[in-house]
Amino acid sequence: MKFFVDTADIAEIEDLAASGLVDGVTTNPSLIAKAGKPIRDVIAAICATVEGPVSAEVTAIDFDGMMEEGQALAGIAPNVAVKVPLTWDGLKACRALTQRGHKVNVTLCFSANQALLAAKAGATFVSPFIGRLDDIGYDGMELIRQIRAIYDNYEALDTEILAASIRTPFHVTEAALAGADVATIPPAVLKNLAKNPLTDKNLDGFLADWKKTGQSIL
Ligand code: E4P
Repeated sequence: MKFFVDTADIAEIEDLAASGLVDGVTTNPSLIAKAGKPIRDVIAAICATVEGPVSAEVTAIDFDGMMEEGQALAGIAPNVAVKVPLTWDGLKACRALTQRGHKVNVTLCFSANQALLAAKAGATFVSPFIGRLDDIGYDGMELIRQIRAIYDNYEALDTEILAASIRTPFHVTEAALAGADVATIPPAVLKNLAKNPLTDKNLDGFLADWKKTGQSIL
């Protein structure tokens, strides 16, 4: 499973990318707003830090506007994946941008039929939003399972399932079990994946025993 980091904070991205465990980045208009800098500068800085796909989202909602913005975003760096919303115009833009050789992430996916359409439109990634479905009392993970089952029925559908709106380490485990190709994870959640109180407790025990020996490895 690939790990993308879900943030537009360049300092956080640099910190996490140094681990070698980050395969890409996703941003959205809210995350760019939070970064407080011009979108082109933010995306260029992220693309220079991470080799993998960096999702940058259009804000136009009509086909022509999405095409114009999408091509401008794709021109920032070769690893930009243009993010378009899962609307009819967004699907048309996905098809057209894909045909022009751009990577496209179709976002705001909340149903299996929407994911089927995104794949037919040639999306590189489809982003089902787990947390936002859970928020309204639906089972976000069930959507990942349905999309996985549908895509696996048709060899021609090669869109990657990018589990988005991940809020907890449990979401990551469940998305991996459900066969999501990618999880995009907020920095704090990504760091929490490594944490376990038993690891800390037992490490303390080993180090206490080691100290008693008076030895040094070097
Ligand atoms: C990523 O592409 C999405 O924009 C993001 O995961 C949304 O997460 P949220 O629902 O926690 O804001």
